Amino acid sequence: MEETRKRLIDLLSNHHQPYISGQELSDKLQISRSAVWKHMNALKKEGYQIEGVTNKGYRIVTTPHELSETALRWDLKTDWLGQQLIYQEQVASTQIVAHDLAREGASHGTVVVAREQTKGRGRMRRYWESKDGLGLWFSSILRPSGVEPKRASQLTLVAAVAIADYFAKNNIDIKIKWPNDLFINGKKLAGILTEMQAEQDAVQYIILGIGINMNHQNQDLFESDRNKSTSLHLESGQMFNLNQVLKDLLVELEAKFDLFIDEGFSKIKQQWESYAYKLGEWVTVRTQEEWDAKVFGIDEDGALMVMDENDKIHHLYSAEILW
Ligand code: BTN
Repeated sequence: MEETRKRLIDLLSNHHQPYISGQELSDKLQISRSAVWKHMNALKKEGYQIEGVTNKGYRIVTTPHELSETALRWDLKTDWLGQQLIYQEQVASTQIVAHDLAREGASHGTVVVAREQTKGRGRMRRYWESKDGLGLWFSSILRPSGVEPKRASQLTLVAAVAIADYFAKNNIDIKIKWPNDLFINGKKLAGILTEMQAEQDAVQYIILGIGINMNHQNQDLFESDRNKSTSLHLESGQMFNLNQVLKDLLVELEAKFDLFIDEGFSKIKQQWESYAYKLGEWVTVRTQEEWDAKVFGIDEDGALMVMDENDKIHHLYSAEILW
């Protein structure tokens, strides 16, 4: 995106008064009043609603629903997460971009977001369908100091709780299916993929990828997936402003990561259990054989705890559960 456009958005969003005059914009951007006007019109074409009031100046009223870099930058209320924002129209996978950037030294909190992924990846090398402009597909680079590699998987659970909290605040009831799926009305809405680069006992960086199906209609989902996957639009009937949802989610994620770093996992564990899918219900666990077990919660490491038919508790770190 053009540098002047980025600075214009910054000025409009970080001004101490609601309106900023055309003259002030022109002075600060060091461009003519008519160039300011042209940039304003370009923003309007992107879907911004900008109010201009005589003798007062301009202010942004609403941002577009469609993902856009300018709208994502406007009024982002985080301290560190997403302040470095890499926005791409189309990528193979935001995970790949984030790994490349992290290797080149990108800072803690850098977020890569794309409108479309052509090779989105899920856990267990599964393909993650990421259609253009319909969902949120983003990866965060985290360099958590003091977190040992064995605790990195807890970050998946931390992120899941942050997402569930965000939706709960918006009266949308989400369940977390261990370890990384977010469910709504019994169907998958979102997934989390945590990948780590570590050396001996130190985490170099973690790439936390999140995919959320937002504004999909039925025909946007694979036919074979329609009975197990869904979108927020299909469940609520509403269309969502992707920029606003992502910015609000980043605020939740940042707060939850800070809580995890400052106070450890125990508070997150309690919150996680309040959202747990099928807590107290019987499921089938597939290890070398298949056996029935009751979901009991998670332990301090984030492993799933289940109880077998003989009341024995098992701590599962990577089992397949037939929910
Ligand atoms: C899963 O449920 O298996 C995890 C899905 C993770 C998808 C997200 S979308 C953003 C990031 N980029 C990817 O290629 N994958 C993750």
